[in-house]
Amino acid sequence: MKRIIIAIDGYSSCGKSTLAKALAKALHYAYLDSGAMYRAVTLFFLENNIDYNDPEKVTWALQHIEIHFERVDGQNCTFLNGVNIEQAIREMRVSQHVSPVATISSVRRAMVRQQQAMGNRRGIVADGRDIGTVVFPDAELKIFLTADPDVRTSRRHLELATKGIKADRNDIQHNLLERDQIDSNRSDSPLRQAADAVVIDNTLLSESQQLAQALAMAKEKM
Ligand code: DC
Repeated sequence: MKRIIIAIDGYSSCGKSTLAKALAKALHYAYLDSGAMYRAVTLFFLENNIDYNDPEKVTWALQHIEIHFERVDGQNCTFLNGVNIEQAIREMRVSQHVSPVATISSVRRAMVRQQQAMGNRRGIVADGRDIGTVVFPDAELKIFLTADPDVRTSRRHLELATKGIKADRNDIQHNLLERDQIDSNRSDSPLRQAADAVVIDNTLLSESQQLAQALAMAKEKM
């Protein structure tokens, strides 16, 4: 069977990472959480009091940031300069700054370069906002996920609670909609459905139904 690239894009908290992880597991593929990389850069800016509106400071920061992924206790974890930051990057303070950080072209260029290197042997499932349009425009399967905003809010609320992170439901919804707005309207690689992407609306789908649909599409391409 041919090893392919599967690109999953969509709005915040649509279940992209749930689907991407399940697909990667079923196909024995690598999983690339591109959003975690923008979150890691954001955490670095916050922890080092770096004004990300200052291009020189951003250039300096990018030279001092090393991001990689490792499996810890069976979970895909994000590491920033050798430290496991998987939990810290999900906190609201990071969510509140990540979309503005992700509008910065120099940040995007650095992340996209690394993402493309990770996909050079194919056999990868990547999720994000510009995967099918910019990172892997030649991906064999492109999925654009959508879901009702109330359902997305509830899912994110539950996800954070499961991780022991407390957050107000209204704050979560406000943050999701604000990020969708910034991510869709930025000038550099905005969130767009690729012309050759298949839309899955998972508002009324269970995780296993959504996985079954996507797996059938992947197998057709393989
Ligand atoms: O998928 P996520 O919610 O963890 O992503 C966090 C933010 O990172 C998202 O609001 C926009 C940005 N992002 C991006 O610009 N491009 C990507 N490929 C992935 C994420």
